[in-house]
Amino acid sequence: HRAEPCTVVIFGATGDLTNRKLIPAFYNVAACGDLPPQFKVVGFARRDKTDEVFRKELEEGNRKNSRQGHNEELWNSFSQSIHYHRSEFEDEAGYKELKALLEKFDEERGAPANRLFYLASAPEAFKPILEMLKAAGLNEGVGGKWARVVCEKPFGKDLATAKALNETVAATFEEKDTYRIDHYLGKETAQNIMVLRFANALFEPNWNSRYIDNVQITCAENLGMEGGRGGYYDTAGALRDMVQNHLFQLLSLVAMEPPTDLSADSVRDEKVKVIRALRPLVGPEAVGANVIRAQYTAGSVDGVARVGYRQEDRVNPESKTEAYVALRLFIDTWRWQGVPFYIRVGKQLPKKATEISIHFKKPPQVPFATQKMLGGNSENTLVIRIQPDEGIALRILCKQPGQAMNMQQVKLDFRYSSSFGKASPEAYERLLLDAMAGDATLFARRDEVESAWKFIDELEHAWHKSANPPKMCEYPAGSWGPKEADDLLAQDGHSWRLL
Ligand code: BG6
Repeated sequence: HRAEPCTVVIFGATGDLTNRKLIPAFYNVAACGDLPPQFKVVGFARRDKTDEVFRKELEEGNRKNSRQGHNEELWNSFSQSIHYHRSEFEDEAGYKELKALLEKFDEERGAPANRLFYLASAPEAFKPILEMLKAAGLNEGVGGKWARVVCEKPFGKDLATAKALNETVAATFEEKDTYRIDHYLGKETAQNIMVLRFANALFEPNWNSRYIDNVQITCAENLGMEGGRGGYYDTAGALRDMVQNHLFQLLSLVAMEPPTDLSADSVRDEKVKVIRALRPLVGPEAVGANVIRAQYTAGSVDGVARVGYRQEDRVNPESKTEAYVALRLFIDTWRWQGVPFYIRVGKQLPKKATEISIHFKKPPQVPFATQKMLGGNSENTLVIRIQPDEGIALRILCKQPGQAMNMQQVKLDFRYSSSFGKASPEAYERLLLDAMAGDATLFARRDEVESAWKFIDELEHAWHKSANPPKMCEYPAGSWGPKEADDLLAQDGHSWRLL
């Protein structure tokens, strides 16, 4: 697949995502020489601005956020491809003008171009934007060229809204032209999970309930509600913001069966089966027994004082939204019968780290001393570090040098930074190129999104609509989460891996 020449229209282009992620991603793709020729970006948003002002703002964003630095000369030529178009999202005339602008670009190029519409606005605007694109006839490619849509998250806030949004999208674009972004799938380390599992004869034979005791997925962030994020976050919470999408995607990659080939549908067919096989948690009792929700109280992270979640800017002081969630899940398939999958994700934890750890069962009989264990516990653990310090570590037991037969856990470590000569592309670089190349493998399919919401809805229902909801726990900012989440694992004789 190769990215094809196109014009990208970004809706909600004055937002943080465009400035921090999208434009730096395009710039870095250009710096690598991978940007297709005759590329153009049109920022579509409500505020009044000229192309020049828009470019200047993006230049500042690029200086701060480009992974390969900022080169004046490259920026000056790249930024010539960026334009701004002011309009309300519900204003038909704005889309007629957009169409005229795109046609003007086509004329300058001497041929019609492909068109990629990127929905990065507030989610309420997705529906009117799609309807207006259709009314203006922009949802169909001209002169044999394609028109595609990329939808940013959140993709709905429950099953009903996700279904309604999927209907609106389907009325406007075909599924093959619809790209639902989950940027975790664009991370190199997430893509590598399939290669690790299915290209190495060493792991796959052990990748099941006979050899694996439990699996843990941690996604820790050391930030709170900076930059006015509380407004959105307080309407979502950790479960909707992270688990429904990113964490379930990682879970699918870890637990899926091998796909027969690498086509978008083969891979997504296998991933969706994992989500469908999740043992449902229904009712406050089952939810309370397996899912811990919590908010942070005042504390300190990295030596800096932090306020509690309810004191954050734009967060309701009586908020019932969770900033942390820990879950114990079971996947009812032949491969995973009885293996708990523990997931935890939260804000204001001690550091930023996302990792998956596979904890293997112990050998049936160990004739060596285990009392003198140093450094960690005694099980074989495979740790996939999604970010930062990307890599994979295998923890094995070794004899401590000396007279006695004492064991110690040691680490075999692979690091992206030392094994590969160059830095990995950012998730958005890969995903934007894929959307331009027509490869949807790393995007969420309609049934994946809906199956995930179906599971999540039950939890939200138990928390917010039942007569005796499970309690909201607390943890001081800068700690590793509430005590109740440790107890959840302790019930099974397990503990969270120390990060
Ligand atoms: C976003 C969430 O999707 O992912 C944020 O909305 C979160 O709340 C972010 O901070 C984390 O992404 P990353 O790539 O920094 O792990």
